[in-house]
Amino acid sequence: MASEHLKLFGELFSRANRTDYLPIIVVEGRGAKVRDSGGNQYIDLSASGAVMVLGYGNDELRKEIKRQVDKLIHYTYMYGMNEPALRLGEELLKISDIDEGKVLYGLSGTDAVESSLILAKAYTKRELILSYNGGFHGVFPLSADASCINLERKVCELIRCSKETICLPYPDTYRCSILRGDKDCKKMSLEILKETLEDLSKANKLPAALIAEPIQGDSGIVVPPEGYFREVARILRSYGIPLIIDEIQTGLGRTGEWFAYQYEGIKPDVVTLGKPLGGGLPISAVVGESKLMDSVPTMGLAFSLSGNPVTATAALTVINEIRKNKLLKKTKELGNYVIRELRSFMKKHELVGDVRGKGLMIGVELVKNKETKERAKNETKKVIYRAYELGAIVLSVRENVLRIQPPLTINKEELIEGINILEEAIEDVEEGKVNDEALKIVRGW
Ligand SMILES: Cc1ncc(COP(=O)(O)O)c(C=O)c1O
Repeated sequence: MASEHLKLFGELFSRANRTDYLPIIVVEGRGAKVRDSGGNQYIDLSASGAVMVLGYGNDELRKEIKRQVDKLIHYTYMYGMNEPALRLGEELLKISDIDEGKVLYGLSGTDAVESSLILAKAYTKRELILSYNGGFHGVFPLSADASCINLERKVCELIRCSKETICLPYPDTYRCSILRGDKDCKKMSLEILKETLEDLSKANKLPAALIAEPIQGDSGIVVPPEGYFREVARILRSYGIPLIIDEIQTGLGRTGEWFAYQYEGIKPDVVTLGKPLGGGLPISAVVGESKLMDSVPTMGLAFSLSGNPVTATAALTVINEIRKNKLLKKTKELGNYVIRELRSFMKKHELVGDVRGKGLMIGVELVKNKETKERAKNETKKVIYRAYELGAIVLSVRENVLRIQPPLTINKEELIEGINILEEAIEDVEEGKVNDEALKIVRGW
């Protein structure tokens, strides 16, 4: 049954729209667990790609969505108003700490980034964008162009994007020394930023914005050193260059704060939100300073379905539930505990080169050799497959980094159970118990 369905998926859908990790057809979910069509249950350590922040089937979310569906499924916010959209806008301004801010809604992370880049270009009347190597911001032309990640899926390799992006080195402390021969990653990255801006200023070609993930997600859960973005914000301010912080993967409590930039005590000019915002329903948002947010003419960034009252209600419920259940504090505590546990793997396991993260945004990097740090790509696929056989869903980024991003509502016992499964899977791969068949199934990206 499952193999029939999987074959149909391959035949029916464009590969541009999806990939395969596991041969699983999810039919229902509760809390941190999902059940497949064969009745098997899995702990989802991925939260469906860092989306299902409240887990599956959250009571309050289901109740609020149903209540709103019964009342009003849609009335376009483009030409009118609805109450949930209004209340959500107020909440987003409150939690993002942006003074004198405004909000716009979209449907997916990519369109939030596209909008933010258009706003910055319109406001500054400049073209160039600064970004970071490894940064991922979306798949449409502007966001793909601003993504300096080297991926097969990057559409700008295929179509002509503007190429108006300069990619700077992100302060990746695990790989800095191999890549740059310089151990002080933070200093090196800041110096290159300063030199770039000096050169651009002399050439009268300052950028419209710098866009950054406060912790890089798809590039391997790369955590910058403390204070790095504080300094970046200061440097940009001295040139009057807007800072766009892409919180699509890190936002809404994933790292233990509403937004990861709050650890740095900074206020970006623009923040992009997506993934977890709707608790699984499609809604994205851009929050930013009014002068920037109003730089595009009326309706210049309007979508017919944006500001939908059902998705806005879902987003309001996500925020309320995070607040009511003190999930920021819980995420910090659980995250500290799990990162400590996972770090012990580095001593016990040949394959585990590094463990890093903040809150419940954690990367476990698998390498073939701890000195050369060669990426253990096939071993990562085998670990993913073995973990699935043992009852846990784990995905990867950058081909060799296991991403641990469970729902924030997961309890400690479930998390321990998931981590134990992960360790068993790593052991089985190290002992050669997982054969190459797994490589045909887990395609990843
Ligand atoms: C940091 C970041 N920005 C933007 C995006 C694009 O979001 P979406 O896939 O929802 O369009 C993603 C998705 O992975 C992301 O992680």
